[in-house]
Amino acid sequence: MERWSSGAGFILAAIGSAVGIGNIWRFPAVLGGNGGGAYLIPYLIAVFFCALPLMIFELALGRHFQGTIVSAFRSVRHPFRVFGWMICGIVFLILSYYLVIAGWTLGYFFFALSGERISFADFSAGWLPVVLFAVTALATGIVVSGGVRKGIERMSTLLIPVSVGTLIILALYCTTLPGFSRGMDFLFTPDFTVLGSPLLWGAAFGQAFFSLSVGMGILLTYGAYADREQAIPAASLIITVADLGVALLSGIVIFPIVFSFGLAPAAGAELAFTTLPQAFAVMPGGRVIAAAFFLVLFFAALTSAISMLEMSVAALRESFLWSRRRSAAVLTAAVLATGLPSALSYSAADLRFDGIPVLDFLDETIGTLGLPVAAIFLAIVFTWFFSPTRDLLAREIGNGLARIIYPLCTYIIPAVLIMTTAARMASGVDYPGLRNLPGSEFIGPLLQIEGIVIIILLLLAASVVACRLGRCPLAGRLRTWRRRGNS
Ligand code: PHE
Repeated sequence: MERWSSGAGFILAAIGSAVGIGNIWRFPAVLGGNGGGAYLIPYLIAVFFCALPLMIFELALGRHFQGTIVSAFRSVRHPFRVFGWMICGIVFLILSYYLVIAGWTLGYFFFALSGERISFADFSAGWLPVVLFAVTALATGIVVSGGVRKGIERMSTLLIPVSVGTLIILALYCTTLPGFSRGMDFLFTPDFTVLGSPLLWGAAFGQAFFSLSVGMGILLTYGAYADREQAIPAASLIITVADLGVALLSGIVIFPIVFSFGLAPAAGAELAFTTLPQAFAVMPGGRVIAAAFFLVLFFAALTSAISMLEMSVAALRESFLWSRRRSAAVLTAAVLATGLPSALSYSAADLRFDGIPVLDFLDETIGTLGLPVAAIFLAIVFTWFFSPTRDLLAREIGNGLARIIYPLCTYIIPAVLIMTTAARMASGVDYPGLRNLPGSEFIGPLLQIEGIVIIILLLLAASVVACRLGRCPLAGRLRTWRRRGNS
């Protein structure tokens, strides 16, 4: 099993996974769409009482099982490995369109550098986004094939400090803008009257899990590379606070700009690619600020994408005994093929599924509902179906903390996730705060449920095939060759 080179390397890699488009773009947009500071209270509760405990749980499981989400599920019951593959499939599908958005941020970075002003509609209608998607996917594949230390850890150790440093400089600059105090009022003034809205709570929980990359096996994979000396609870707290800090910093950058230039704070997806560029175009030093902003967004997206790919690469290596390079190459090729329809959905090809751009369709189904489904499986299977979990948790994180985390992951977290997901499915409301991509086209609750059911069934079928392949004579042969090669 590969290992992180140090505790700091592990924490930075996990921060790299957590800090992404979700913090810098989605958090301010969801907050804007939910009445500003009011949203912070449910968000903080979701982060510290649900996402953080589940993160500790997931990392501890990873270190205990020393494997991937597939082998961890297999240790509970052999057939449960199907669920592991299914979760890999969910994350892989999210990755396929996440890379498209990451490509957009790269494009806007280049526009800022060259000083070109282009509307999002014109940009996305061309072929450039498809090229940028391919470039980003290849970059992700190359880093992952570099390995845990030389690829993932090195990249995060470089990009995370640069990104956070740049965001701090941007935030300092924004304190000088005329709209700074209005922006801060909007961000930090709580409005207790809206706390009764279940949809606000649903939005907060969705955002917390998405932003912390929790509940989908990525942290389980990263936890397996951690040393026994690593204190998991302390590391989890640092990762959580860093993720929250970057989200708030982004708010401190974005809202003063929005208010200084008389723009709308609740502009959804438009926020990053339409609203902010309008402000950048007229503010002093706007080009440099825009370049810095989009570069940070791209770096953050890249380190998150790396973690999504690593999870499946690790699962393939483990199950088929492939080399890291081979697994990374195969999955990069696969993600290029899988993401192509999403990349084309905004281009001149205008690829749609049932009248909805493919990217929006995937986001509304698998992006919005796939993640809670994965987290529910993770929490329930390892607590309800696996009695040693209580003791292994005590060994990994200490008995005192295990006494709190275990019941939270057994009852409270699954209940909260099931309730918020059910509310989301039951409500036919077009509610922007509940989507991963704010501003994306709402596809309607029925199509959303049909879509998720179809995708999950397809993923399950593919997982069964993957499990069979793991047992097929060819795979057995490969194993024998490997063993011979090693001896
Ligand atoms: N946490 C990342 C973000 O905030 C997104 C992500 C989701 C990463 C799921 C990994 C898995 O953008």
